[in-house]
Amino acid sequence: MYRTPSPDRITEYLRRLREDPQSVNAPDWRVDYPDGPWPVKVHQSGTRVSPEGPLARVLGGSVAVTAVRGPRTTLRRAVPSGGAMHPTEVYVLCAHTDRLWHVDPYRMELLALPADRPSRLLCVGLRLAPGAALPPVVLVLTSRFWKNFYKYGNFSFRLGAVDAGVVLGRVLRLAEAEFGTALVRTDFVDATVNAALGLDGRDESVYAVVGCGPVEADGAAGRVDPAPIEAPSVLERSRRVKRSLMFDFVQASAQVLPPDPVAFRAAPEVASRVGAVALPAAASVDLNDPRVIVRRRSGGRAFTGHPVDPATLSTVLCHAEAAGAQLRDRADPAVPDIRLFVAVHRVRGVPTGWYAYRPDLLAPAGRGPDPGLGPRLQEALFGSGVNAELAAFTVHVVASPRHGCRSARHYRTQQLAVGVAIEATVLAATAVDLGNHPFLGFDAGAVDAAYGLDGQDSGAQAQICVGAVHAGDEWEVAVRPR
Ligand SMILES: Cc1cc2nc3c(=O)[nH]c(=O)nc-3n(C[C@H](O)[C@H](O)[C@H](O)COP(=O)(O)O)c2cc1C
Repeated sequence: MYRTPSPDRITEYLRRLREDPQSVNAPDWRVDYPDGPWPVKVHQSGTRVSPEGPLARVLGGSVAVTAVRGPRTTLRRAVPSGGAMHPTEVYVLCAHTDRLWHVDPYRMELLALPADRPSRLLCVGLRLAPGAALPPVVLVLTSRFWKNFYKYGNFSFRLGAVDAGVVLGRVLRLAEAEFGTALVRTDFVDATVNAALGLDGRDESVYAVVGCGPVEADGAAGRVDPAPIEAPSVLERSRRVKRSLMFDFVQASAQVLPPDPVAFRAAPEVASRVGAVALPAAASVDLNDPRVIVRRRSGGRAFTGHPVDPATLSTVLCHAEAAGAQLRDRADPAVPDIRLFVAVHRVRGVPTGWYAYRPDLLAPAGRGPDPGLGPRLQEALFGSGVNAELAAFTVHVVASPRHGCRSARHYRTQQLAVGVAIEATVLAATAVDLGNHPFLGFDAGAVDAAYGLDGQDSGAQAQICVGAVHAGDEWEVAVRPR
């Protein structure tokens, strides 16, 4: 369909990623499953060390492999990822030694990379003065395109950005707890940051940068360890790495920082209090608890249909909202706001219906009370593996389609914020012992219509079904850190 991509096509492509995602691949698009990539980026040779202390806990709680599960021996990680593709890679720059490392999430090791004084280039990429002070540890999140493209083709531009947002949300929360403070940048010059990492930007490119700990004036001026001379080679399992003109074109376009990356700020809405449902106080749960992190899974296939207490709904929404607020506080102004809506149908004392979430209440939205909500949600799902009708409630992450379609870069940054909300929702649901399942594969137009969002420049970007689950019957073996 997209034989000759032109800049005008980008807006239409970005719009379709949400409104008609199944149309962004050519009708003859097929996945070549036997020729898929490895589940992690594989390097041959090189020097490896084990991360320790706060860094180990941040990486262990975010990108680490936590389990092996059947029947296809899929690797589960601490975070969810569309189709278990996990395309987000993490690089670590240690400002004290000015050394760069790639994170091996399988062995939970750091692999030394041969970058010469990478902090200088990173500073330029971040539009800081060369040699400016950096936080002691800087984590760079990239997307490795083939990991996702192999299965999802052109749709992976959206999925890869949301996936990186999921990792970003987890890293930000853990880094703030472990290092005392953390900040997020998305408004960098991609080509320069990629150059600092030794990436070409065509197969893998930077999506977000997280500074961990307070900026130290003498950071980069400290001891500089000699970098390894030889780059460890990357092994690719796939014999054929397919490409698409449209995908490459949009990726390249997203690497251009627009003159005005600043996000519109949504005006606070005056929610109708007519028919509003007051929510009980949220429970205090620790989302950094490693026991919660390893329990997380996308367990929608095991929803039982049992009703849940309103405090669990309140807790999940409160933590998802808090993650959005934390991102807004810690990130550059290019990161836009997102809002939360929720379709409730099995929560004790809450009438079945469509609601906008406000910190202390649920305000009816669109159809409002709706006994047909369950079947409507199920009908809106593209796949049939999960019965959304049996969930207790479904959270919708809402953001401005117009803002997202301003440019491929605005879109990418917006989808990071969507991923942050997904991450907090699934983890808070796990913390209150509820099963959960995130989705991008649903009919966003149908959901917008149910909430009365059509024509409002607000649209559902992701959904997370949450509810009681029974123990799954799939075998799983936990991976223990060494
Ligand atoms: C951004 C995102 C989108 C997802 N979209 C879907 C979806 O459309 N359909 C689905 O069944 N699962 C979806 N999932 C769930 C993944 O398939 C699941 O996370 C993955 O298989 C890994 O399993 P785990 O979460 O149990 O570790 C999505 C997950 C993420 C993070």
